[in-house]
Amino acid sequence: MNPRSRHRVIFDTDPGVDDAMALYFALAHPDIELVGITTTFGNVRVEQAVQNALYLCQIAGRTVPVARGLASPWVKPGEAPPEHIHGADGLGNLPSRQALRAQADPRSAAQFIVDAARERPGEISLVAVGPLGNLAAALKLEPALPGLLRGVVLMGGTVLEPGNVSPVAEANIWNDPHAADIVFTAGWPLTMVGLDVTHRLILPVTLFREIARHHQHLATDTLLHAVDFYAHFYSQRFAHVGQVHGCFGHDVLAFIRLVAPGLFGTVNGPVRVATEGPAAGQTILKRLPELHYPHPGWEPHVPCTEACMSVDATAAADLFRQTLLGDWLTR
Ligand code: RIB
Ligand code: CA
Repeated sequence: MNPRSRHRVIFDTDPGVDDAMALYFALAHPDIELVGITTTFGNVRVEQAVQNALYLCQIAGRTVPVARGLASPWVKPGEAPPEHIHGADGLGNLPSRQALRAQADPRSAAQFIVDAARERPGEISLVAVGPLGNLAAALKLEPALPGLLRGVVLMGGTVLEPGNVSPVAEANIWNDPHAADIVFTAGWPLTMVGLDVTHRLILPVTLFREIARHHQHLATDTLLHAVDFYAHFYSQRFAHVGQVHGCFGHDVLAFIRLVAPGLFGTVNGPVRVATEGPAAGQTILKRLPELHYPHPGWEPHVPCTEACMSVDATAAADLFRQTLLGDWLTR
């Protein structure tokens, strides 16, 4: 295999139901090597995020280091987690859990990212699917980090699609807009997988039932339970999602972009994040490369982001299905 086609990944996450889908896709995909999981507040409080990441790995029979990240946003006050979407435990209120055997890595998420990048310069990709405080903290610890990583793919933001927490803001960016603006202007190879594409990937609960029936395994039963809860929220909010009793596969699409970039259409340009006022959390993409705006914040040196604007959703869903039906679970 071409060594470049294998992806060594640190997964920054707030698990969370669609985060769990993404984690299991990463564990199941043969081209992804998960070198660590860094956790953040978001769908749940950070301590619950740590527990969920450890638990999901344990029941899948995998050992992956899990580091604890930020418990609150950089500047704005934190908000209560959205229990009505992901459940009070982030996994659709599981009726019971095995006792955890593993403990979190003693390092902070930011330190974990910096250490891994220094150990393997140019090899690690970051896939970030929660609020972006850990990435901003890692940049503060190691300003040369952008040159030490292979790239960053993040699920967050939106360009044309309406927001999901305000008319213009997507949840991950809304939850820490100041950190997000630092991340979008850091100068690393950055791909944004936002609502413009994640709202195209609708995954029905029947797909997760098929995966669970195929494996007959606690990990896929747990995923099915969590997705069933999550799908109630999306099915009530969006009529076209309700028709198939499904949900959006937000976070897994970041991994799908990593391994199958040809499924996406992109636009390249600087992205800035509004941090205050009614537009707080908006990701603003400069879409006209030939036009120079004279205002502060849009200088020609502001780094570019590759923003995903279209996706072959049928092929993405099929890749998800085939990957999860593969032989990836140990007993
Ligand atoms: O807006 C979707 C994002 O918000 C996903 O990362 C989901 O897990 C939630 O955190
Ligand atoms: Ca998430």
